[in-house]
Amino acid sequence: MPGDLRIFLGQLFRKPGEVVALAPSSEALAREMCRGLSPETGHVAELGPGTGKITRAILSAGVAEKNITAFELNPTFVDTLRGQFPAADIRRAPAQEVGNLPLGELDAVISGLPLLSMPNDVQRAIVEGTFRVLKPGGTFVQFTYGPVPPIAQCLREGLKLTWTKSAKIWGNLPPARVYTFRQG
Ligand SMILES: C[S@@+](CC[C@H](N)C(=O)[O-])C[C@H]1O[C@@H](n2cnc3c(N)ncnc32)[C@H](O)[C@@H]1O
Repeated sequence: MPGDLRIFLGQLFRKPGEVVALAPSSEALAREMCRGLSPETGHVAELGPGTGKITRAILSAGVAEKNITAFELNPTFVDTLRGQFPAADIRRAPAQEVGNLPLGELDAVISGLPLLSMPNDVQRAIVEGTFRVLKPGGTFVQFTYGPVPPIAQCLREGLKLTWTKSAKIWGNLPPARVYTFRQG
């Protein structure tokens, strides 16, 4: 079994309420999450990077490693990530702290969090914090396995969010869609 998968399944077994996925994201899903990124993209925050599948796709899209700030709760994942991405700022901290970054700092926030299964107050802190620190026109990218947009309706309405969604990515386990949210 590949090392990443072994570490992921070990943590899924220990902390199912935080990991909330059967396996790391597939290459296809990770690529779709990063479709809007390029070498011209500046600072990106990644929420819930796990074993780093999407982090690698962010780098493949051309974002500089030093321009990535990641928020991950799980200490085993944090150690793995720091070993793989020494120039990135990997924080052992809740994603709710994304809103503490400097205002207008981020071009994009890429989230692998189980956002819809989080308590309302946690989801609110993450989403409101994200849109506080995104540049005008910046994007919040989130995948979901479900049929509805992965941000609660009251938050979408309160923040006046618009969004696009990808086709279903059948190569992921389970199949998923990527939503890209913007303000206004
Ligand atoms: C569904 S896994 C996704 C992992 C990886 N992004 C991927 O797509 O393979 C969710 C990740 O979010 C992390 N997580 C859960 N709640 C979090 C929170 N409040 N703040 C930061 N990370 C969190 C978990 O530890 C786990 O690594």
